[in-house]
Amino acid sequence: MCGIIGYIGKSEAAPILLEGLRRLEYRGYDSAGLAILNGTLSVRKCKGRIANLTDLIGREPIHGDVGISHTRWATHGGVTDENAHPHFDESGKLALVHNGVIENYQTLKEQLLSEGHHFKSQTDTEVLAHLIGKHFEALGGEASGPRLVEAVRAALKEVTGTYGIAVMHEAVPETLVGARRGSPLVLGIGKGENFLASDVSAIVGHAREAVYLRDYDVVTLGRDDFEITTLDGGVSGFKVSKVEFSEDDVNKGAFPHFMLKEIFEQPESLQNAIRGRLSVEESTAKLGGLNMTPQQLRDIERIVLTGCGTACHAAMVGEYVIETLAHVPTEVEFASEFRYRNMPMNKDTVVFAISQSGETADTLAALRESQRKGHRTLGICNNVASTIARESDGGVYMHAGPEIGVAATKSFTSQVAVLTLLGLLLGRIRHLSTSDGIRIMEEMKAIPEKVREILKQNDRIKEIAHKYAYAKAMMFLGRQFNYPVAMEGALKMKEISYLHAEGHPSAELKHGVIALISPEVPSVFIAPDDSVYDKNISNIEEVKARKGPVIAIGTEGSSKLEKVADDVIYIPRCPDYLSPLLTVIPLQLFAYHLAVKLGCDVDKPRNLAKSVTVE
Ligand code: AGP
Ligand code: GLU
Repeated sequence: MCGIIGYIGKSEAAPILLEGLRRLEYRGYDSAGLAILNGTLSVRKCKGRIANLTDLIGREPIHGDVGISHTRWATHGGVTDENAHPHFDESGKLALVHNGVIENYQTLKEQLLSEGHHFKSQTDTEVLAHLIGKHFEALGGEASGPRLVEAVRAALKEVTGTYGIAVMHEAVPETLVGARRGSPLVLGIGKGENFLASDVSAIVGHAREAVYLRDYDVVTLGRDDFEITTLDGGVSGFKVSKVEFSEDDVNKGAFPHFMLKEIFEQPESLQNAIRGRLSVEESTAKLGGLNMTPQQLRDIERIVLTGCGTACHAAMVGEYVIETLAHVPTEVEFASEFRYRNMPMNKDTVVFAISQSGETADTLAALRESQRKGHRTLGICNNVASTIARESDGGVYMHAGPEIGVAATKSFTSQVAVLTLLGLLLGRIRHLSTSDGIRIMEEMKAIPEKVREILKQNDRIKEIAHKYAYAKAMMFLGRQFNYPVAMEGALKMKEISYLHAEGHPSAELKHGVIALISPEVPSVFIAPDDSVYDKNISNIEEVKARKGPVIAIGTEGSSKLEKVADDVIYIPRCPDYLSPLLTVIPLQLFAYHLAVKLGCDVDKPRNLAKSVTVE
């Protein structure tokens, strides 16, 4: 978790670091801090949001053109001013910011305590700062960049766990040092200035080029140059990439929240997920990134889809879609379970790791476990520079653009779209005819416009959401393709509004859930005009008979719903297997407006962070 950004250049560091932190705040927002070098090191840090740090710096400004900064999602040590990063070594001259977990920090700390070190915080990070400082002192000689890098290397060799770090030392004012293992770190290359950041969004507008560092890379930054080596001091092969995003991509624009902006981006993000991937000549999907021949695709006997949270819900939709279109047995497993489970899988099982960020620790571990067992393991990621994208044996990018709101929205629909393309591709290789392929492609192409139609109902959905803001809890119910959408609707509601919400298959009501129904507990039924429409209607009747209010998501023209539900939100007609791409949109808007009405901070819900890079 957490976001780090470092700067070395000719401009005032504080405003650049604060703006970068603001863009990284989605990664964690327990506390924030920065250290700036101007002859000596000055630090400002405090618990709470970046806005608190900005206020603090407004009251107590600091100047200088070299600095490091951090926004925290606490793993070790409570949310306090003392535990906020940066942390310092024993001399107080070396400052460090860290994203990750030092797993053996207790042992290291005991050793350092016995050597006379004093600690000010309860964090694992401070131990690493002391360790680097200790090596820096032990190396002796002239204070220099190479000596600082050597100290960083020596300390990191003693550490187990994960880290993305930025380090600076008062005695070495012309150098910043960064290193990574398990946590992302990007080097941003500017003119007369260089940057380090957890995510490229922090440096958009400053750096046109970037190097996505790899595990065990150690980077030394000067104002006009940089050097990337390995932890052992060897040469690291690296690639300079263009920074593709613009400032508009990483700013909210006219929208009050990133979440709303991202919900409204879905016609484009869906378009981008399918663009160039539907071949009219072959009437199938083309997914070249899978790196698989038609023969190999045909030999797939089983698919396992794995991911966390929303990505797992998208996988559950994928299971229904792939089995329907391609008849390939498909299973979904939470990545956190998959990694420790010894799932029986035959040699023709292909595993997909699904992750927006491509950095989720559990999903990455699942990918590695699957590869260890010799399975072809593919990624479905949004972040092209991510660890999962890099380590997988191939895959499909979502092309959704940056998703900054902590609640995943456009990434869900893009993941479902990619899984549908996969279903089409595998289906066409097996039993679907050319005309089946053409029909599915046409239906897919029509989806972005249908999403646009649903978004036009935003005001009405807002009214409905406000009407139910009194609720004590909420049930989300759906069947078949829309059972995972019920789970996703409930997750959206609970994570941003803190309202107790549960997602279940509609038919499960009578097996226990129905006991929760009351006038204070509305139910949201996802009941499009599909093969289980009438079954859903019966379940709605059961809820109404127990005085439970019902909001239904239905298909335009299906009149029965109005007779049984209190409020109905309509989606355009589409085939059953594509309906999740439409039914989820009103649920995202519903959760958003209800959370705003309740005064919640929808982009940064409590206790959460965007990418969960710890176990
Ligand atoms: C969704 O709204 C969540 N914030 C969360 O469940 C998220 O989908 C999950 O942590 C997985 O993230 P990833 O797609 O980046 O791997
Ligand atoms: N483990 C460190 C801490 O708790 C860093 C956590 C993070 O990555 O935000 O402070």
